Parts: sequence; structure tokens; C-alpha cells
Amino acid sequence: MPQDTNSHISEVGRRINQLRAEIARHNRAYHVLDNPEVPDATYDQLKRELADLELAHPELSADTSPTQQVGAPRNEAFAPVTHTSAMLSLHNAFDINELRAWHERLLRRLDGRSPGSFAVELKLDGLAISLLYEDGLLVQGATRGDGKVGEDVTHNVCTISDIPTQLVGAPKQLGPPTQLGPPQVPKLLEVRGEVYMKLSSFEAFNELQQKRAEADGTKAKRFVNPRNTAAGSLRQISADVTAGRDLSFYCYQLSFATGGPQLDDHTSALKWLKTLGFPVNDHNRVFASLPEVETRVKELAEMRHTLDYDFDGIVVKVNDLQIQSELGADAKAPRWAIAYKLPPEEATTTLTDISVSIGPSGQATPFAQLEPVFVGGVTVGTATLHNEDQVRSKDVRPGDTVIVRRAGDVIPEVVGPVLADRPANSSPWVFPRNCPVCGEPLARHEGVAATHCVNFDCPRQIRGRIEHFAGRNAMDIEFLGEKNVDRFVTAGLLNDVSDLYRLDFDKILEMPGYLEKSVNNLREAIEQSKSRPLANLIFGLRIPEIGQVNAAVLAAAFPSIRQIMKASVEALTAIEGFGSVTAVAVHSWFATTRNRELIDRLEASGLTLEAEQSATTVPRTLANASVVVSGTFDGFTREAAKQAILSRGGKSPGSVSKSTLALVVGASPGAAKVTKAEAFGVPMIDENAFVDLLASGELPKGSR
Ligand code: IVH
Repeated sequence: MPQDTNSHISEVGRRINQLRAEIARHNRAYHVLDNPEVPDATYDQLKRELADLELAHPELSADTSPTQQVGAPRNEAFAPVTHTSAMLSLHNAFDINELRAWHERLLRRLDGRSPGSFAVELKLDGLAISLLYEDGLLVQGATRGDGKVGEDVTHNVCTISDIPTQLVGAPKQLGPPTQLGPPQVPKLLEVRGEVYMKLSSFEAFNELQQKRAEADGTKAKRFVNPRNTAAGSLRQISADVTAGRDLSFYCYQLSFATGGPQLDDHTSALKWLKTLGFPVNDHNRVFASLPEVETRVKELAEMRHTLDYDFDGIVVKVNDLQIQSELGADAKAPRWAIAYKLPPEEATTTLTDISVSIGPSGQATPFAQLEPVFVGGVTVGTATLHNEDQVRSKDVRPGDTVIVRRAGDVIPEVVGPVLADRPANSSPWVFPRNCPVCGEPLARHEGVAATHCVNFDCPRQIRGRIEHFAGRNAMDIEFLGEKNVDRFVTAGLLNDVSDLYRLDFDKILEMPGYLEKSVNNLREAIEQSKSRPLANLIFGLRIPEIGQVNAAVLAAAFPSIRQIMKASVEALTAIEGFGSVTAVAVHSWFATTRNRELIDRLEASGLTLEAEQSATTVPRTLANASVVVSGTFDGFTREAAKQAILSRGGKSPGSVSKSTLALVVGASPGAAKVTKAEAFGVPMIDENAFVDLLASGELPKGSR
């Protein structure tokens, strides 16, 4: 269809104006208020759309457009600082092809001359800072501001311990120097880098905010992410506030130096800055060719979520300073560098409703139903809201536009609402009074965050108990599965775990979708489960405090369920590794009539309630030895590893001590355990050595 050109242009013009206004609003929220309304990815998208429209319609471009500006207006509360050279931004590459296109452009600009080597660095997610030193003393710290003029935040910068106030080799006196330091200390030096907040500091800070609010009886202000917190913390009127925020710093650029050594490339410049006392990131590397750069980019991308700070991309820089200056910059960013952006982990979407799901033990968890949104590499339609307090502190409401975050393999979460887009008629969400499954009242106990359905007969809990009982680590009933459990409970065939052994298979055969063969398989699997080891049965009963390890301990301490039933609290407390809480939990479970009747029914159905003879034939290779297990393993669960230790006469406590025989280390072990093992000289062994240890009781040769 031919289009009316004039009306099309005016439509484009309207969209351009709309985008400019919206981007200007976001710029202010981000740079001045340190309180962005939308995630970076949404902002990037708006800017891209505007840049594309301006490119297609040059007649509508304007110098005042946000595409022509770097950063945003300054906060008037700080003295202005005119930068010695513009603090530019970086052009972005959103995939490997865009990185290659940047490389092609370099080659074209250099008329086929080689750009030389490339420096590859993390793109730290904080805020840019310029630091000025005279005769080795810090005299000024300034934010980027609009790129030309920034804000003087010297008083705050001085509180960041990573930032040297005095360079290594500078004369050691306060006030104006009376003599020059050693020759390597430059007369004048400007360094640029990123102020950021470590993830651990961010979490600690949010926790502190929460505690303070609880103490004052006020509502805690939750900080959304480390970047905004770092930016807000640096731009404080009072340095005392900044000092309490535990900010960090990495230096990524030598802006200029007078009186320093002759430097030919960026890497040497950073090396020199390191000798002067500036922190330089350990992951910086140099490569001779683009394919090597690409490999490193992928490597670094995989390191996301393994560090104690956020990075949102990888910066690739031409290393040679002469070639850098030949390539120069455009209005926004240098041509000699590019930021390879990692996929966004935050996105905005509409929260259509808040529902409550009931877990297998009755826990009532609120969750957000979302307009599906692509974030962190997957499409997300729901996100947990954890508990009532979290919904209240985030104050998210049905109808809100919300920021959703999914970082790595972590389950998606709602970060908070975009208040500017909140519908006028919205009101705070209220936790339902009744269980959505059984309709009975929900309960929340004083001082506890979780809400529960306390109806023992709630169908969700009945299903939960049966699923647990049939699970692989308990009675291991093949062919049962959650779907069947759900159907059988709904059909009234299953009310508790003992009903499994009285299942009416004829009725099941009458149900749609069940064939003779599958029903026979199920019958067979249930029959086989009757002779599972005592420890599996005990674990399957889901007695409070009794996980797999404690179940194994109980099974080793008593020859049968009937004996456990008769045991006093004192006898139970006397079990090695059992505290009084566990002992009381076991005692009261077996004292409850409903549970005693369940045991009677299980016995009547032919289940083995006694410890099997074979259990005692496992060699006691670890008698009285203490072996701690940490991390995840390929061949077994951590619980199974502990059980294996216990069944060989050993102990497997939760922490390392001087008397620990060995620490078994799997993937992602606990840092505290590893540190303690190192401190006490406790040998650390891998999965294979552990299997040998179980068999022989011997540690591998050469381990301390
Ligand atoms: S080099 C001319 N290197 O990213 C700009 N910047 O989006 C030279 N950033 O404002 C910057 N890590 O605050 C450079 N390793 C790194 C960086 C980095 C983070 C920030 C910097 C800059 C922003 C551009």
C-alpha cells in the first residue's frame, strides 16, 4: 500500500519527540536522582529506536537530542568540575557480529594497517570517576556529569579505601608538598575508573537498612541494585554517609600524566598506575587477534555471577596509545573501544496478578503472574515474591509495571514497581485469608515470615506427603510420579501413604488413560517398595527435623520403628549428633495417635519396619572419624555422602574443626569450610579420593 509520506513523517516526528522526552526523563532519573525507573536494557532499546529513526530521517535530527549527549545534567548541590578532556561513553556491541563489525571499521579507518593488540577488560557496573593528583596527592574527584562538566565529589571519594589519597612514592606529609617525590611520581596525573559496590557489601547494606527500620518501627527503603546504591552513595552531601557504604574502585584508564614514564600502550599505563597504588582488575588481558579476543569474551561472559561484583559487559580496547589517538572519538564515544554488552538480566513487564501457591508442607508463597517477558535468556511468566513481608516492602500491586530480574540460574524475581507507571486506582495487595486449595484459614505465626495452610487434610499436603514418601531417597516408587499422585488423591483413592498399599487398581484401570501394562508396572513398583531399608522408610515419613542423615542415624541406633516409637526423649537425646530439638520432634511425632495408626496400617500392609541385616555388614572404615562434606558431586548427593560416612561408623558435622579427618570438596564448596580447612591443615579431597576413603579408611598418599 502506498503511504502518505507527509503523514508518515509527522507520525515519525511524533514518535521521535516522544522518545526524546522519555529518554530525557530516564536520564534525569538515572544520573541526577540515582533512581532509575527502568532497567538499562529498556533504556538501551529506547535509545536504539531513536537513533534508528534519526538515521532514517536526518531532517529530524537535532543537536539537543539525547542521542547527541553523554550522561545527563549535573546536580546543582555539587560544585561543577570542567573535565580536562570529555568523559565519553562507549559504543555497544550486542553480539559477536557487532563486535566483528567494529573490528572491520577499525581496519577500514587504518587503511589496512594492523590495529595491534587488544586489551580485554570487564565492563564494571558502577559509575565513572575522574581522580586528579598533584605531586602525588589526591586533589579532586569528579563524576562524569554530562561528559564535559561533572560534579565535585572529592570529599566522598576520600572515604573510599581503594582510592589512594597519596600515591606510592609521594612525600609523606599532609598539606602542600615542600619537595617533589621520587621521579616516578608525576607532577600532575588524571586517572579514570569505576566506583562500584561489591555484591556482599550491597546485601549487607540492605540488611542493615532493614534492621535499622525494624528498630525505628519504620518501613525500610530497599536499594534495588549495587550500581544505583554506589551512585547514590557517592553523590551525598555528607562524606560520613558515603564512608558508611563500603564502596570499591578499579582504575581502567590513564587520562594524562606529566612527569611520568614514556608509555606506549594502555596495558603499560595500567601497570604503571598499579605501581602508584591504584587497584587494577585482575581479569584484564591482552590479545594479538580478534579470534582470541572473542574466545576471551566468551570466557568472561561465563564468569558472570562468579564474582563479588556485577559486570554488564566486556570492554575491548585498542592497546596502542598512538593508534588510539589516530582513531579518535565521535561525539559520544571513542572509536578505539567497544563495549560487548551481556544479555540483560532485568526487564520491565506488567504484573497481571498476585497469586498464592501452596507447597508440599503447606507453605503459602505469593508469586507474581506476569505478561511473559524475555529476561536472563528465558521467557518468564511467573516470579516468586517469597512471603507477605516481601510483597509489602516491595509494594508491588496487580496492574503495576514491574522490573523483573533473572540472573544466571537464579529463579526470577520481581525487583520492584515502576511507580511512574502505576495505575491511578491501584491499592496495596492483601494476603488472602484462606488456602486457595482447601479453603481453610491460613496462619502466620508471630515472628515468622512464612504463612502456612495448617489443615493436615489439605489435598496439597496429602499430595506432598505421598510424593515425598514415594521419592527416590525414600521408598523410591517408580511409575508413581506427581501426576498420578494428583489424580489418585483427587479421585479419593489416596489419603495417606498407607493407602498406596491398598490401592484399588481396578478403579485406576477404569480411569481414562490407564492401560493394563502401566497399572501392572505401578503395582509391581509399589510391591517392591515394601522392602526398602529402614532408613528410607523413616525418611519417607517426613518427621520434622528428620532428613536423610538423621533418618540413617535413627535406623542405626534402633533396630525397628517399634523401638523408636517406645524410646524416651532422653534415649533419643543420647544419640550421637541428636540435639534435644530433634529428639523432641521424633518423640512427639511418634506420640501422635494419627501417626501411630499410620505405622499400624503400614505394618499390616506388609512393610518392613525392622533394620535389615546387611546394614551392619558395611565395614566400619571410618569408625569415630569426622569427615566434612561440601559442594555438589557428580556421583551422589551430599546427603548420600554423609549417609555413607555415618554407615561406616564416622561422623559428618556441618563445619570443619582441628579434629576433622578430611574435607570432601565438590563443585562450589562453602568458602568458610575451605578457609577453615586451610587454616587447620585439614586435607581436602575430591570425589574419587572420597570413594577410596570410604572403602579403605585411608587418605590418598601425599595429603597432609
Ligand atoms: S573505558 C572513553 N573500561 O563504562 C571511555 N570503561 O558505558 C573509556 N566502564 O563511562 C571507558 N568498565 O564508566 C572503560 N573496563 C572499563 C570499564 C568502563 C566500566 C564504564 C565507564 C564508562 C562506561 C561506558
